[in-house]
Amino acid sequence: RQKRLTPADIAALKGNRPVVSLTAYTTPMARLLDPHCDFLLVGDSLGMVLYGMDTTVGVTMEMMIAHGQAVMRGVSRACVIIDMPFGSYQESKEQAFRSAARIMKETGCDGVKLEGGAEMAETVAFLVDRGVPVLGHVGLMPQQVNTAGGYRSKGHSDKEAEKIRRDARAIDEAGAFAMVIEGTVEPLAREISAAVSATTIGIGASPACDGQILVSDDMLGLFNDFKPRFVKHYAELAEVISKAAADYAGEVRARTFPGPEHTFQPRPKS
Ligand code: KIV
Ligand code: NA
Repeated sequence: RQKRLTPADIAALKGNRPVVSLTAYTTPMARLLDPHCDFLLVGDSLGMVLYGMDTTVGVTMEMMIAHGQAVMRGVSRACVIIDMPFGSYQESKEQAFRSAARIMKETGCDGVKLEGGAEMAETVAFLVDRGVPVLGHVGLMPQQVNTAGGYRSKGHSDKEAEKIRRDARAIDEAGAFAMVIEGTVEPLAREISAAVSATTIGIGASPACDGQILVSDDMLGLFNDFKPRFVKHYAELAEVISKAAADYAGEVRARTFPGPEHTFQPRPKS
């Protein structure tokens, strides 16, 4: 049995080779992505991508745990990190530990991700000191959509850039093994990647980040409700699925499906 990568392995890849990551929410997708990725993220983006929610704010612990268990059944090599959902960690470091421990115990995953900068640094240190590997997430933080007034890229003003710089430093010093930098102006993401010791994982950030992540359903052209600038389609699966459904519908209506090869004939009587 192959050994899976650990958060320590992901940390050690910094300065070595780029870290490859995608989101996964289900067993079959985890199986397909596992050979190609260093880590798979069970992102709370699943609320929007799988459940049709407008934001990630409504995602629950139960949803993250169910999908985390599904992904764990599909991996043999990639490290698996699970997003802490909105409301499961912001109240206190104790609440955060309770939620993180539950996620790790019930799924067997390798670590958790939480959004936040300087305001979450004490929580990150509390978790790491107690055995929970933490992936940070700075820059554009989707769980803060309601206070940020939408999904806009970050770091354009000096003030905003300085805040993100401070956030990244705080999460780094708190002991996060890596941090996602999302929707952040390229030169700043590049600068942070050089400045922090944690492995930086870019999404809408910079090719100079230590690794990259995308939402699988976005890069596969499966979730097309909207397409942020940072998404690149490596396939057009929505078109493939629509065509398959249309072909099936046509054959059912024409009674050409099922064919003789799909039906059972009575066995000859002896
Ligand atoms: O929820 C998610 O998929 C994420 C990644 C895009 C980083 O947080
Ligand atoms: Na997320």
